[in-house]
Amino acid sequence: MKKKSLRDLPPQALDGKRALTRVDFNVPLKNGQVSDDTRLRAALATITYLREKGARVVLLSHLGRPKGGPDPQYSLQQIVPALEKLLGAPVEFIPDPANGAATARRLTRGGVALVENTRFWSGEEKNDPELAKTFAGLGDFYVNDAFGSAHRAHSSTEAVAHLLKPAVAGFLMEKELQYLGQLLENPKRPFIAVLGGAKISGKIDVIRSLLPKVDELLVGGAMACTFFAAMGLEVGSSLVEPDRIALAKELLATSGKKLILPRGGVIAPSLERPQESKSVSADAIPKGWAVFDIDQVTQHDFRARLLRAKTIFWNGPMGVFETPPFDAGTRAVANALVEAGQKGAVTVVGGGDSVAAVAGMEDKLTHVSTGGGASLEFLEGKELPGVSALEDK
Ligand code: 3PG
Ligand code: MG
Repeated sequence: MKKKSLRDLPPQALDGKRALTRVDFNVPLKNGQVSDDTRLRAALATITYLREKGARVVLLSHLGRPKGGPDPQYSLQQIVPALEKLLGAPVEFIPDPANGAATARRLTRGGVALVENTRFWSGEEKNDPELAKTFAGLGDFYVNDAFGSAHRAHSSTEAVAHLLKPAVAGFLMEKELQYLGQLLENPKRPFIAVLGGAKISGKIDVIRSLLPKVDELLVGGAMACTFFAAMGLEVGSSLVEPDRIALAKELLATSGKKLILPRGGVIAPSLERPQESKSVSADAIPKGWAVFDIDQVTQHDFRARLLRAKTIFWNGPMGVFETPPFDAGTRAVANALVEAGQKGAVTVVGGGDSVAAVAGMEDKLTHVSTGGGASLEFLEGKELPGVSALEDK
């Protein structure tokens, strides 16, 4: 990695020092409780290391997309119990960074504080240097471990890194950049990417970026239907992006044999009538029916291809996987990744929905990214402001 990491700081730079640490604790909540603590656990390596080295840890994060100031629904106070349980230590809460310096200073060595949602202050999303100065006042040095937010140039991810030095990457950030970087730099071949999800529009840049690098790109999800339409096939009432058909045509024409589409789909008259679902080949989608998943023929085809791969990147579900039976294709891909991994392939899953699909399988995969948008932007070859702002080695 070209950026300095926590590893590069000598013990005396940590001991007794306030480590202002940006994490991505943008976690899902249900009834005010953390319903998936993946992102909390992902930050533990950094927090624990800092505590063991005698640092006083001040955590910064956003939560959700609050509009127009503080909103209890988005308060980070809600995640304090879950964090305390994981750390096995009390966490001080700082409701307002502008009045938080005293609390931060009172922390003992190994102590932890969490600052309220950075997005409660209007400067955050404007990358306001004044707000960054307020944040910087809470620490002696800066650690960015929020890979999931690294594609945002916000006060707590970007501006603050210019004000508080040293500014280094945490262990999660380092790990994410290493595994995702490997995909772009020297993947073991064959390298296969699997992309799914509803829309080509959100994935177009990553398709363009990955096509020259991969040996095969397998496409699933409703996105495949836009390609079917581009091939002149009947797509019934499937989700199609009419304004992307020309683009799909262009990709089909320029991708050679790399772009692999589903052979068929699981169709139903609507999502509300799953009991009527059946499988058809891609050229036999009837009018009035929509594709909600890849069919079994495609599952077998994708699995066979994936078992030949040495590197796999997967992003996006193959179907409407939150509505069974349309989860089968997504589950089949998840299982094929695990199988390929057992045969020695490097398996990397990019954030978002595909992460939910591999819940409980994480330890059988090489790397599951904590970043949705961030992992895609990274693979698109874009600069991540939260990374760029850190110090070079
Ligand atoms: C995410 O969950 O994608 C990150 O935490 C970033 O959140 P955002 O998309 O609201 O900026
Ligand atoms: Mg996002």
